Amino acid sequence: MPNETLTITDNRTGKTYTLPIEKNAIRAIDLRQIKTGPEDFGLLSYDPAFLNTASCQSAVTYLDGERGILRYRGYPIEQLAEKCSFLEVAYLLLNGELPGPDELDAWITDVTRHTMIHENLKKFMEGFHYDAHPMGMLMSTVAALSTFYPEAHSIHDAAVRKLQITRLIGKMPTLTAYAYRHSLGLPYVYPDNDLGYTKNFMNMLWRRTEPKFSANPVLARALEVLFILHADHEQNCSTSTMRAVGSSFADPYATTAAAIAALSGPLHGGANEEVLRMLDEIGSKDRVPAYIEQIKAGHGKLMGFGHRVYKNYDPRARIIKQVAEEVFEVTGRNPKLDIALELERIALEDEFFIKRKLYPNVDFYSGIIYQAMGFTPDVFTVLFAIPRTVGWLAQWQEMLQDSEQKIARPRQLYTGQPARHVARIEERLAPAVALAAVAR
Ligand code: SDX
Repeated sequence: MPNETLTITDNRTGKTYTLPIEKNAIRAIDLRQIKTGPEDFGLLSYDPAFLNTASCQSAVTYLDGERGILRYRGYPIEQLAEKCSFLEVAYLLLNGELPGPDELDAWITDVTRHTMIHENLKKFMEGFHYDAHPMGMLMSTVAALSTFYPEAHSIHDAAVRKLQITRLIGKMPTLTAYAYRHSLGLPYVYPDNDLGYTKNFMNMLWRRTEPKFSANPVLARALEVLFILHADHEQNCSTSTMRAVGSSFADPYATTAAAIAALSGPLHGGANEEVLRMLDEIGSKDRVPAYIEQIKAGHGKLMGFGHRVYKNYDPRARIIKQVAEEVFEVTGRNPKLDIALELERIALEDEFFIKRKLYPNVDFYSGIIYQAMGFTPDVFTVLFAIPRTVGWLAQWQEMLQDSEQKIARPRQLYTGQPARHVARIEERLAPAVALAAVAR
């Protein structure tokens, strides 16, 4: 085994330091010994947006961005999407192993028992305008859950954690469905525990006056697969938020609400909604070339394209394209697919995108399917949040159990004013005058 060390010479002092390399990384804290003198704080590593910084060690999800590989607990996403239910995958992410028959039955029973929400939460929902964005409603009501389960603050108690995790996974579809029904002015539909996780979600969304909701099995399976594909994705923006907020020992409801807020951004989970707006703006296949020229000229981004980690085709996008064809067999083809396929075809041949390694990501095709299923674009990101709650909780739990982790508190490089004294108000110049005087 080669010498797993890094030797650094500080040319300011001529001193040499040898740092251990573990798992192809150095510990940033080892840089602090590099000083110019006893008064020196020591060297920091500066990494805006954490482009090259590992914040944790995790066994949950593995990504290989260059080769377009995604594995949950070692299992390739393609096999999980083909062979498992969403709750099986949820069990895997949370526990590290796929469940056997008995474990799965017990897990399904547990989650199903927690699909109801407190009646007061319905009143909470009523406080929103009819056109309130479902993500705003979801993050608020999830945060409100922390007031219904005060015992959730005991985050170091494994049994308490497991109960809150099960509650959150059980209630996310119910909260989403209630927000959706509220926006349509329809009465809420209570969970039907005879139905599986996804079919019950469809029941709470779409049941009208029929005594029993009957979900289309193709659409139900498509939603399961989409949930599996969105369940976790290592240290993305919202998961990093979950870990950072959770590191202060906040309760899991407040922490999950923070992760939902991060996911809502258009550069992250909000992109699936933005893709549909982009496709609507383009309007037809023949207008795709002109739109791409606008993007290349720096006017906006091609939503649903590009990724911090994947510099190859996002494996989830590939699977979602297959799911789209199955869904359209039932719903009829969404004409927006033709615009999306033309965008992809042209972009993948264009040097601007090739040079920047920009490929379709998970958000590029998912919205087209959701729209075909009958969802409005403002619900798309909530459909991302439901399954991603499992990943957030698996990573949150892993963080709490990691003896190396502490409260997240990065350092900074200070670029502000040196020390200065406060002048009395009558001696002070107006800020603009003061700045001009400094500039001279
Ligand atoms: C998700 O992290 C995760 O794992 C996220 C996620 C998950 O499962 O949790 O996979 C889910 O969030 C998927 C991404 C959804 N977002 C979008 O589709 C929005 C559009 N994409 C971009 O905004 C962008 O690609 C990001 C935010 C996804 C990634 O941005 P990076 O890694 O910070 O890359 P960058 O902005 O530094 O881009 C590098 C270059 C730049 O050009 P130059 O300045 O070098 O000339 O590529 C350009 C960017 O301008 N670029 C794009 C582009 N994405 C990057 N140009 C046009 N269209 C795009 N979509």
